[in-house]
Amino acid sequence: MVREIIMFGDPVLRKKGAAVEEVTPEIRQLAEDMLETMREAQGVGLAAPQVGESLQLAVVDVSHDPECVSFLRVNGEDASMDDIMPLVFINPVVEGSDEKDTDVEGCLSFPDLRADITRPAEVNAKLTTLDGEVLEIETDGLLARAIQHEVDHLFGVLFIDRMSTARKLAIKKTLKELQRTYSQSQS
Ligand code: NI
Repeated sequence: MVREIIMFGDPVLRKKGAAVEEVTPEIRQLAEDMLETMREAQGVGLAAPQVGESLQLAVVDVSHDPECVSFLRVNGEDASMDDIMPLVFINPVVEGSDEKDTDVEGCLSFPDLRADITRPAEVNAKLTTLDGEVLEIETDGLLARAIQHEVDHLFGVLFIDRMSTARKLAIKKTLKELQRTYSQSQS
């Protein structure tokens, strides 16, 4: 089922998600719904708070662009994109490299807003699957960026928090309007 995507302004986007202690049928259904919702919205990732569930659960799918990373290792072995996509994970632990990379990002909770965001270029991400397996993913490029963006969501952090001061100033009015619209209409 496609769920409604929560927009910036709704307080749920600022809450730290609870760790998923037990993968119930409801959690599996939620993950299915999130994949469907992400695809319909043509996004490359979606986090549970964006559908109103304050949980550490997210989905990522960059399989449309297998060339978007220069390397991909899963549990220490070279892997291909198809081996792990779509990614559905809970309770992530992510470490970023000191080396940074800047690229344009958007977010399904911010209609029509895109901006350059600087983040660690590479990640080491320990992602738990719904079957309890821990995938240690080392990668860069769009996949590293998408994982970091979604993991941020699970801790109440949004991409606007990582924009340059100048960019944030430039969109101050847009953000205020979004906040005004969505802080009252929903939860
Ligand atoms: Ni987002």
